[in-house]
This record gives sequence, C-alpha cells and structure tokens, in this order.
Amino acid sequence: PRSIYLSRHGESQFNVEGKIGDSLLSPNGEKYMHALPALIKDNIGDAPLTVWTSTLRRTIQTASELNYPKLTWKSLDELDAGVCDAMTYEEIEQAYPDDFANRNEDKFNYRYRGGESYRDVVVRLEPVIMELERQENILIIGHQAILRCLYAYFHHLPQVDLPYIKIPLHTKLTPKAYGCDEERCIILS
Ligand code: F6P
Repeated sequence: PRSIYLSRHGESQFNVEGKIGDSLLSPNGEKYMHALPALIKDNIGDAPLTVWTSTLRRTIQTASELNYPKLTWKSLDELDAGVCDAMTYEEIEQAYPDDFANRNEDKFNYRYRGGESYRDVVVRLEPVIMELERQENILIIGHQAILRCLYAYFHHLPQVDLPYIKIPLHTKLTPKAYGCDEERCIILS
C-alpha cells in the first residue's frame, strides 16, 4: 500500500517571533532541513517518493536538501490571514478584538479580513486531494492549517475538531504512525 506523509516545515523566523505568515527558516529550522533527508530515508527506505511543497519560502527551504522529484502547489499555501499577516496573536487581539473573539467562537468558519477561513482552505484543497488519491507515495512539506485539513480528510475527523489538530513543528525526529484503512497517512514530526 502507498503512504502519504505529512510534515510541517522547519521552525521559521516568524514561528520564533510568534508571528503568523511567511519567512525564512530559523537556525533551528535549518537544522531540521539538514536532518530531514536521513529522517525520510529511515522511514521510507528506498521506496519511490515525490515531495510536494507550497509556494512559500519556509516549505521550499525545508525540502531543499531532499533528493526526490518535487512539485510546488499554490493550493498548499498556508491559510491566508489577510490583514493579519505578519502579526502576532496578541497584536491581532488588540487591533481586531471582535474578530479575535469570533475566531475563538467558530474557528472553522471564521474568515480573516481579506483572507481565508478553514472552510475556504478545505475547498481549495479539493484538487490537491483528488491528485493525492491518484498518486503513489507522497511527502507533503506543508503548513499547520493545511496539514490539519488533509489529515482530517484522510482520517474522517469532524470539522469542529479540525482547526485544533496538533501538527507539531520538529520537536523530535521520530515518526508517529496512525492506521488509515488501506492507505496510510502519517504525520512526521
Ligand atoms: O503559526 C504558524 C501558522 O502556520 C500561521 O502561519 C497560521 O496562520 C497558523 O499557524 C494557523 O494556525 P491557527 O489556525 O491555529 O492560527
């Protein structure tokens, strides 16, 4: 059976600063980038693999030392936070208190001003999922919100829980496997 591996990008500079949005990797993230080829080899061996990333710097950089065919998907870009891009959650709460409360109230449906909701992301991921269904082994180097949506799809998890699924950054380099009917959908963290 084929496998779908999900992994978040390495820690980014914005992750360190508590900001949402795109930036390059932090020194820690670069360590993960260097460690990733061996981690993948340990888990996947010599099976054929294609690596998918988003068009954002932190996923492309994380995948840069992987020696497999690669594809970048705009549809895999992180949930667009619109006017809140590059802000911290504290800054968002101060600048847009109502929005902040609404998001806590209904995280799946809340749409950032000028940006997206989790519901929007689920819709735009449809072509990615259709293509995933037809492919062999795929490793996705992705983003927190995106991987939550994909993981919830393959594990049939309810929408209300989806925005809270834990998709860790690289805290340790051990794989966690979960059964997934015939095909396997695994979070590497
Ligand atoms: O903090 C990293 C990040 O990927 C942000 O870019 C993104 O907005 C956020 O996580 C999504 O997580 P949540 O929906 O819990 O805010």
